[in-house]
Amino acid sequence: MKKLEVKRIIVPLKENPYPVYIGNSILSQLPELIEVSFPQRNIFVVIDGNIDRTWGRIIRKILSASAKKITFYKLTPGESSKNYLELNKIYTALLDGNYGRDTLLISIGGGVTGDLSGFAASSFMRGISLIHIPTTLLAAVDSSIGGKTGINFLKKKNMIGAFYQPAFVFIDTNFFTTLPHQEIISGAGEIIKYAYLSDRNFFNYLQKNFDSLIKLQPDVINESVIKSVSIKASVVSQDEKESGLRQILNLGHTFAHAFETGLNFKIKHGEAVAAGIISALILSNKLELLSTRNMNEYLSLPSKIRPPKNLGNLKPESIYNLMLTDKKNRDGKIKFVLLKGIGELVLGAEAAKLEIFTSLQEAKEYY
Ligand SMILES: NC(=O)c1ccc[n+]([C@@H]2O[C@H](COP(=O)([O-])OP(=O)(O)OC[C@H]3O[C@@H](n4cnc5c(N)ncnc54)[C@H](O)[C@@H]3O)[C@@H](O)[C@H]2O)c1
Repeated sequence: MKKLEVKRIIVPLKENPYPVYIGNSILSQLPELIEVSFPQRNIFVVIDGNIDRTWGRIIRKILSASAKKITFYKLTPGESSKNYLELNKIYTALLDGNYGRDTLLISIGGGVTGDLSGFAASSFMRGISLIHIPTTLLAAVDSSIGGKTGINFLKKKNMIGAFYQPAFVFIDTNFFTTLPHQEIISGAGEIIKYAYLSDRNFFNYLQKNFDSLIKLQPDVINESVIKSVSIKASVVSQDEKESGLRQILNLGHTFAHAFETGLNFKIKHGEAVAAGIISALILSNKLELLSTRNMNEYLSLPSKIRPPKNLGNLKPESIYNLMLTDKKNRDGKIKFVLLKGIGELVLGAEAAKLEIFTSLQEAKEYY
């Protein structure tokens, strides 16, 4: 049978550059890639429960052929699994199975699975090899790239963690066909963000192909994932530990985190990011960074995503108060990532309360 095309993008980190493989229906090519770097290894797989239900049989068949010994650890789906009790269970299962430092840990699932098992890999015996196989659109274009791993602690998100890079990331876009629609929309919200970080071509491409993207038309989904991963890889490689440039990836996120907390997480992350980008574009215009003409044009893309209606019920005052608690703030001031134009970001921007309130109020017309 003809091999399907696999795109290879390098995350060009100074110390540990690694590849991201992207393609549609390419799962059968995974054993070969594992074999090259990790011949006949002891493999420990952390797999999301929903993925195991739908894709488990084929994944087990494919991976078992590449391993000397293999264990599948099934993770209960959902954010509540990203905690130290689950981490403890993974360490215990590794030790019970006599897994040592030569273990290859493979994470298969969304951002929850990737963050938790990435942190387990970073800390078990001071670090074991890791491969990410993201199965949500959001994990493919965001959480699996860049090496941030971690768990939630005392109800605070991502409080404990480490930067830990995988040996490679393997993205089969065919996995997305079983995603609930809202998860596709959530990933699309992050993809839209990348449109503002690079060049006009990607913005125009997404404008034109947004409907095909959310219908998972293979060419469009592949192209969008490839472009998003390339942008994230480039940003991350210039600022691995987030001391400067990497902050541009937070466009829309100061607002988005407040929307998520204000709605008790009854909004998907990417939906909140799209609404956050709308608010950030309007605020950029209020601060005279962005012309009204460009703002109107740029607003047309994130407003294709409709967040839950109750987002409109959140009061600017409570959103503002939630933003004051954002961990990216400095000296008690809210810091925003704003926009002058496509590819021209402003980091650490501040704004008066009134400008923030009116931006939030005006943003409601677009979502
Ligand atoms: N490390 C980072 O840089 C980074 C970046 C962004 C987000 N995150 C983290 O990622 C997490 C969110 O990730 P997520 O949105 O992927 O959520 P998730 O991992 O909870 O997955 C969402 C849902 O989709 C299901 N699922 C996964 N793949 C599926 C498939 N192919 N078919 C059917 N169902 C499938 C899961 O079981 C789950 O119910 C958060 O914890 C967030 O903090 C991390």
